[in-house]
Amino acid sequence: MTTDRGRAATTAWTAGPDGALRACLEDAVAAPSVHNTQPWRFRVHGATVEILADRARRLDVLDPQGRELFLSLGAAVFNLRAAMLARGRVPVLRLLPEPDEPDLVARVTVGPATRPPATATLLADAIPRRHTNRQPFSEIPVPADVLADLSAAADAEGARLVVTDPEARDAVLDVVRIAEQRRRHDPAYWRELSEWTRGGPERRDGVPPEAFGPWDALETVPIRDFSVVRPARRRRPAPFERAPTIAVLYTAGDTPANWLRAGQALERVLLTATVRGLASTIMTQPVEVPHLRALLRDASGGYDAQAVLRFGYGPFSAASARRPLDEVLVEGPPTDG
Ligand SMILES: Cc1cc2nc3c(=O)[nH]c(=O)nc-3n(C[C@H](O)[C@H](O)[C@H](O)COP(=O)(O)O)c2cc1C
Repeated sequence: MTTDRGRAATTAWTAGPDGALRACLEDAVAAPSVHNTQPWRFRVHGATVEILADRARRLDVLDPQGRELFLSLGAAVFNLRAAMLARGRVPVLRLLPEPDEPDLVARVTVGPATRPPATATLLADAIPRRHTNRQPFSEIPVPADVLADLSAAADAEGARLVVTDPEARDAVLDVVRIAEQRRRHDPAYWRELSEWTRGGPERRDGVPPEAFGPWDALETVPIRDFSVVRPARRRRPAPFERAPTIAVLYTAGDTPANWLRAGQALERVLLTATVRGLASTIMTQPVEVPHLRALLRDASGGYDAQAVLRFGYGPFSAASARRPLDEVLVEGPPTDG
């Protein structure tokens, strides 16, 4: 990950070894993705990056619609935009630009030079520091102004983040717990999880055992159990915070374009949390089971839940590996646009 953003003014906007575009792409691949599947490919021509879905990396059992695949792609798009802006160029974004090419999910072009806004610099600098944290968090409550910043981050990307009050929090966590327990009895889910939790030094994707975190034996915080298929790496029990800070990310609509917006909002929220010193966990188990997802729906405004998020003050959490950039850069003729 390049943090030397000041050089951008003198560096060429190419994807070559020292090019500014390459540095931006390194930031893009640091985005979170479901089970660390990294379901993206990038096609660069001139000053334009095309972001393509790699559907071979879709989770057939957990994500048959590809909704979480699109959320993951949206997160990568956000990082790409933030990285360009922090390097002094306006990112010009088009979502789903070619209806005839459904795997082409976005096109981001390096636009005019600009003075990087302070927020973009803070968010881009937070990209390498943001990791999913599955550790217990402290009991220290998250201040209201920090929570307001998180909601504003979602708003800025056309989504909505609702931080739950204690009553709603308990109801949301009940739904997460039910979804998680249901999955633990599903052999197809185990098989899929097994593929993405192998670990090992050569593995550059999937969730490594070091990232599983401990187990809240009371399941107050029902974090996804990645160890369910890895008995040798069973999570050890540990006390978790009793009053977790839980939020639900919503979009008004549930189309691929909404999922891409949700992914960008998700990453903006997570990076804002990182800037404000917060650790975060994504918990999407209930959103993967249609009748449980329906329970999270905000009927008043017609909003669909896209993810459940947990925030707090946590211990250090290590980075999960990424595939090298050259593995996800594809050659190909540019599409029109
Ligand atoms: C759409 C989406 C859904 C996710 N769902 C979960 C989840 O239910 N439980 C969990 O622990 N992590 C979840 N994650 C986090 C990923 O496992 C994580 O991003 C990935 O392993 C890479 O690690 P990193 O976030 O530390 O870079 C999700 C991430 C995304 C983008």
